[in-house]
This record gives sequence, structure tokens and C-alpha cells, in this order.
Amino acid sequence: MPDLHASVESRVREALARESDRTRALESTVGLLKAGLPYYDWVGVYLLDGNELVLGPFSGKPSPHTRIPLGRGICGAAAAERTTIIVDDVNADSRYLACSPETRSEIVVPIMRRGHVLGEIDVDSDQRAAFGPRDQVLIETVAGLLADKL
Ligand code: SME
Repeated sequence: MPDLHASVESRVREALARESDRTRALESTVGLLKAGLPYYDWVGVYLLDGNELVLGPFSGKPSPHTRIPLGRGICGAAAAERTTIIVDDVNADSRYLACSPETRSEIVVPIMRRGHVLGEIDVDSDQRAAFGPRDQVLIETVAGLLADKL
């Protein structure tokens, strides 16, 4: 059975190693994550600007949430708490800001450098409870790689 997580991680490492432009680095990363895992239905990066998360490169349907104040939504909670948040059923979480009616589960991973939040990676799935430990490790590893590019 192919190890999708390992192959996505190595593709992201290769892409980032040869990319010095920050926007292209973010675009390549969201594209590789979305293309590599069949249940990643929306992948985007938010960048912190003052007290707001501003949507940067994404792959998937356009989101109405292009600016999210710290502390709002699952995205704002992950940034404010500086921790990864996995939500198995978004409809059962009162913090959730809906992006697409098909979305069932979500993972948000802060991008941090020396304890400061620079932004975050947000992945939505149309499957319930889609994200497990392997997704958390992959996206946290990728967030660490991106932190060096921001
Ligand atoms: N669901 C997020 C908002 C961003 S969209 O999913 C792209 C949240 O609750 O913060």
C-alpha cells in the first residue's frame, strides 16, 4: 500500500528546498497537500496580520472567510491557543465558521517560529473524522518547513 503521507512530505520538502519566493512556496505547498491526499477537500494558508488571519494561497472552493479575527472560528482558536485543533464533526462545534456545506471535519495547524504564530494551515474534509495522527504529524511537519519561508 503506498504511503501517501510520506510521499506528500517528501514532495513538499523537495518543492520548498528549491523555492525562495514566499508566495510560490505557499502555493506549491497547498497544491501538493490537496493533490496528495484524496480526503483533503480544501487546503489553505492564513497569515497573521495584526490581530487578524488573512487568507493566502488556497486550493478548493473560494471561502467567504478571507479575514478571521484571532479567537474567532476554529482558525482563530488554533492561532490564539497556539495549538493544533482537530474537529471530527464541524457541525457539532459551536466555534465553526462554515466554508462549504459539504465540509464535515477540519484540522488547523499553527505555523510558528520561536513561539510566535506567523499563520496557519487549514485543511477541510467532506468526510467525518477524516484527520488522524498521521495527518497531524504531516501538517505540523509542513508548518515547520513553511515557518522557515515566512
Ligand atoms: N472553518 C474555519 C473557517 C475557514 S474555512 O474553513 C476555509 C473556521 O471555523 O475557522
